Amino acid sequence: MMGNFMATIFNLVFLADADRSAAPWMPVAGTEHAHHVDGVFTFINAICVFFFVLIMALCTYFVLKYRQKDPNDLPEPSPSHNTKLEIVWTAIPIVIVVIMFVYGFAAYMNAVVAPENAYQVKVTGRKWSWTFEYPNGYIDANLHIPVGEDIKLLITSEDVIHSVYIPSFRIKRDAIPGRYTVLTFKADYASPEDGYNLFCAEYCGTEHSKMMAKVIVQEREDFDAWLAEASDYVNNLGPLKAGEKLYLERGCKSCHSLDGSAGTGPSFQNLYGNPHPLTDGTEATPDENFIRESILYPKAKVYSGYQPVMPTFKGSLTDPEIDALITFIKHQSDNSRAEAEKIQADFEASKPKEEEK
Ligand code: CUA
Repeated sequence: MMGNFMATIFNLVFLADADRSAAPWMPVAGTEHAHHVDGVFTFINAICVFFFVLIMALCTYFVLKYRQKDPNDLPEPSPSHNTKLEIVWTAIPIVIVVIMFVYGFAAYMNAVVAPENAYQVKVTGRKWSWTFEYPNGYIDANLHIPVGEDIKLLITSEDVIHSVYIPSFRIKRDAIPGRYTVLTFKADYASPEDGYNLFCAEYCGTEHSKMMAKVIVQEREDFDAWLAEASDYVNNLGPLKAGEKLYLERGCKSCHSLDGSAGTGPSFQNLYGNPHPLTDGTEATPDENFIRESILYPKAKVYSGYQPVMPTFKGSLTDPEIDALITFIKHQSDNSRAEAEKIQADFEASKPKEEEK
């Protein structure tokens, strides 16, 4: 039993995937930079463990050796000063700390100074989702990047401080409202099929723990094909399905349920076309204009019983995307479901004709 246990520990510690992680308790390394960070971590850890063991052992030894063995023993006078000893125990730690600094600072600079030719993706955090904007203006809920190329993440936030954290790349940087921060890396290995994890590492409210995304590292040609296909998704999917994708990926989902259950915002179930009181004492019946206004200027009309906490999507949703979301929200209402389905059916009926051209 004990032997089995020890063998398992041995396998975990010494036979870990040597190429891709420093130790089994570390996430798989997705970049060369990760190996560098692991090196710094292991180096500092080893020094701490070494000195901890040394100091504890000496403490124990001295306590036993110099204990009062006989009640009549008087303590001898303690030595008070030793210049040679003090120089030694000052010089050695200085050398060690300087090595830690140089080794660690090099890794830090690797992660924050982007090479000029880096491929830039703009990362925006908001309560409680991430979006990634590619150079062609397309915005996705996940980070796709080509393998082996320098990538620069230009990071910002629309509301409070969030933090981009990709454990497999050993990088983390705050997303701060009103300013940009930078992270740079080169993903040296294709990611697992379902991607690496990207987390928010700064507590930002009730749904902080759900503020996640995937990092998918692909060969350049697969990446280009993905971006071309994804960028045209409203035309590829049609308004209703594109609206659903937006709902799931652009942060609506974290506050607006589809089953009538209460969230940070009103549920989309039977929202469209049904009157509801507002915080200013009037009443609104959501139609196309109401939804469009709520997306672009969320604080203009707030449902009573809710806080005005929705971020604006002005500038981050295009007109066709807003139309698609309206169609999706219509589809959640009993009184307008058929209408939304008709819009999607008309789109699908028109599609083959377009492809013939
Ligand atoms: Cu965003 Cu925590």
